[in-house]
Amino acid sequence: MELDRPLGHAIDEAARRVLPGGVNSATRQVGAPYAFTAADGAYVSDADGHRYLDYHAAFGAVLLGHNHPAVRQAVLTALDGVDLMGLGVTPIEVELAELACELIPSAEMMITTMSGSEATVQAVRLARAVTGRSLLVKFQGCYHGWGDALARNVISKPESAYGRDPLSAGLLDSAVDATLIAEFNDLDSVRALFESHPEQIAAVFLEPIPHNVGALVPTQEFVEGLRELTRQQGALLVFDEVITGFRHALGGYQQVCGVQPDLTAFGKAMANGFPTAGLAGPRELMERFAADVLLAGTFNGHPVAAHAAIATMRHLRDNPDFYLRTHRLGQRLRDGLGEITAELDVDATVSGFGGVFVLYFGTGPVSGYRDLMRNDHAAYAAFHRRMTGKGFLMLPMALKRNHVSGAHTDADIDLTLEAARDVLKEMRADGLI
Ligand SMILES: Cc1ncc(COP(=O)(O)O)c(C=O)c1O
Repeated sequence: MELDRPLGHAIDEAARRVLPGGVNSATRQVGAPYAFTAADGAYVSDADGHRYLDYHAAFGAVLLGHNHPAVRQAVLTALDGVDLMGLGVTPIEVELAELACELIPSAEMMITTMSGSEATVQAVRLARAVTGRSLLVKFQGCYHGWGDALARNVISKPESAYGRDPLSAGLLDSAVDATLIAEFNDLDSVRALFESHPEQIAAVFLEPIPHNVGALVPTQEFVEGLRELTRQQGALLVFDEVITGFRHALGGYQQVCGVQPDLTAFGKAMANGFPTAGLAGPRELMERFAADVLLAGTFNGHPVAAHAAIATMRHLRDNPDFYLRTHRLGQRLRDGLGEITAELDVDATVSGFGGVFVLYFGTGPVSGYRDLMRNDHAAYAAFHRRMTGKGFLMLPMALKRNHVSGAHTDADIDLTLEAARDVLKEMRADGLI
């Protein structure tokens, strides 16, 4: 079901005249024109007055709910102070770094960037500077931002998975080729790369839960094994917690699994939708930014985003029930979808963690990217599109995940499960599953 959106179409047409593809980030263009004009709590509204329960959550950046009062107030307070100095430091930047170091287990120092991509670019440079090595390892299916070095092999087609699959034209060949690809949850695939490239690998980059392909949950053995292997091999272990950070636990997934990486990138949810991100690690490594690794950025540590981040983190720290609640609601959705698909005999696999839930259309279990190649991408996108048509906003693209925020309620979950049952029945009737 597609909603009627005359104004959305008009805005989309106007956008296409001045913005390439009509959007400011590639994955925002997904066929139907989306033009949003309002957001509050768990709900957003489009230009044509349709209201949606938001599970997209700006790719996971909105964690407390849209327009959260504590964050809103912090931003207003920020406007009464310094807007931007670009000289020395503001007290709010110090407070933000102190708070992040208090909350993230492996953090002794941090740098603040504007985006997750900048944080991972900095991690690449620091890892190369520290180790004197060039190569990197990432996992098929993980995304670490748009920097040349890591922009490859995310949602690859079967013919290019594990091969050479850059995300963009215009990347430097040597940068792409300096990143090797391993399989998630498969320690032997990483070990083999260390064996074939002895003393050349600077760092292993890991999304602890690869949410860019839905939700693959790591085994404890895998994360512990990676920690041990990278140490033995003299390479850094970098956790990209841009999605998992603050969303799954106050200290990120490293707090959940009890494994400390050398460096941690975080962003998205840290400021509940305001643009800031960071990279943290031990003093010994991070001090290189004060010595010979370039750290620069006009807007780094911007007071508005810094105030928003502090308000978000404090809210999470001072409300320990937050995670119990979002995780419980996420579990309700996962259990409910499991029951419905079993009852309707749909070949589907439910995955997720905490407040994140995913319904793959294919047989499980899912451990690595290879298992996701069984997913029926068309059915997956159709499910999300049809849920959106019924007022439950889910990005209509294969392998995109859904997020519960602090503003979702049990009643919202009931409505979502009812709608999911209807959508699956309709898809069955239309021969889509
Ligand atoms: C795991 C991960 N790392 C890094 C990034 C890049 O962050 P940003 O879009 O803020 O540059 C993303 C963005 O989706 C991400 O999911």
